[in-house]
Amino acid sequence: MNKNKQNIRIGILGVNGRMGRILVQACIHAGRNITVAIGRIGSACIGKSLADFLNLESTDHHLFNVMINDDLSAVIQDCDVVIDFTTAEALATHITICHQAKKPIIIGITGLSEQLTEKIKIAAQEIAIVHSGNYSIGVNLSVDLVRIAAQLLSQNEYAQAFEAEIIEAHHRHKIDAPSGTALMYADAIAQARQQQFADIAIYQRHGAVGERHHQSIGLQAIRGGDIVGEHSVFFFGNDEQIEIKHVANNRMNFAVGAVRAATWVSNQPCGLYDMNDVIKN
Ligand SMILES: NC(=O)c1ccc[n+]([C@@H]2O[C@H](COP(=O)([O-])OP(=O)(O)OC[C@H]3O[C@@H](n4cnc5c(N)ncnc54)[C@H](OP(=O)(O)O)[C@@H]3O)[C@@H](O)[C@H]2O)c1
Repeated sequence: MNKNKQNIRIGILGVNGRMGRILVQACIHAGRNITVAIGRIGSACIGKSLADFLNLESTDHHLFNVMINDDLSAVIQDCDVVIDFTTAEALATHITICHQAKKPIIIGITGLSEQLTEKIKIAAQEIAIVHSGNYSIGVNLSVDLVRIAAQLLSQNEYAQAFEAEIIEAHHRHKIDAPSGTALMYADAIAQARQQQFADIAIYQRHGAVGERHHQSIGLQAIRGGDIVGEHSVFFFGNDEQIEIKHVANNRMNFAVGAVRAATWVSNQPCGLYDMNDVIKN
C-alpha cells in the first residue's frame, strides 16, 4: 500500500469527545479526507452529518456526506486508517474490528489494562498500529530531553545524588492516573538508569512512609478545572534542582500529532509503533 497522503481516507472514533472534535478540526486544517465518523451507541450525534454536527457553514463541504455511525464494523471498509480517542472499553472492540479488516489504527486512549495492551501487541503482528500516551511533538521531544538528563546525571558522581519526581496536572474529567505522559517520562528515566520502572515507582505518599529511597521515581497526579495537561519532571539535588516542564495550551497539539501519525502509518508494514517512529522517520 503506497498512498498519497492527501487521499488517505481517515475514520475518527469518538467524534463527540474533547479529542474527537479537535481531531476533526485538525483533519480539516491539514486537508485530510475524513470518510468515517463514529460515536457512542445512543449518543445524540448518531445519524447526523459530521458537518451539521460541527455547524460547518459551507454547504459544499464533503463532511455533509459523512454520517455519524455507531457501528465501526459496518463502515470500516470506507476508510484506510482509524484514529481512536474513545475509551479503553470501546478500544477492545475497535481493535478486533481493525484487525479483522486489516486496517491500521492510531490509539490515543490512556489507562489501558495489561490484557488490552497484550491484545494490541497481538493485532500488531498483522496490522500497523501507532500507540502513544501523548501525540504532542513537544512532549515526545521532551521525553528525549528527560532521558538525556537522567543519563548525564547518573554518569556524574556528584549528580548521582539527584532524585527524580514527576508531577502532572489534568482537568477534572480525566479518568486515569498517572497520565500516560507521566509514565513515558518515568520510563525514560528508568531506562536511562538501567532500572525496571515497575520496581522503583512510587505512586503516592500518605502516612508514615519513611525516608525517600534514593533510586525511586515519584509520580504525583493532581486534577481540577479545565487543565489540558501539564507535566514537570524534577531532578532534586542538594542545594539545587532541575525542572523540565511541558504545558499543553490546548488539545490541538495532540490532534495534529495523531493526524500526522495516521498519514505516516498508512504506508507502514504491520508492527507496533510509537510517536518517536512517526517523528524520526
Ligand atoms: N495520547 C494523547 O496524546 C492523548 C491526548 C488527550 C487525551 N488522551 C486520551 O484520550 C482519551 C479520550 O480523551 P477525551 O478527553 O477526548 O475524552 P472524552 O471527551 O470523554 O471523549 C471520549 C469519547 O468517546 C466516546 N465513546 C465512548 N464509547 C464509545 C464507543 N463505543 N464508540 C464510539 N465512541 C465512544 C464518548 O462518547 P459520549 O460523548 O457519547 O460519551 C466520548 O465522546 C482518554 O483516554 C485520554 O486520556 C490522549
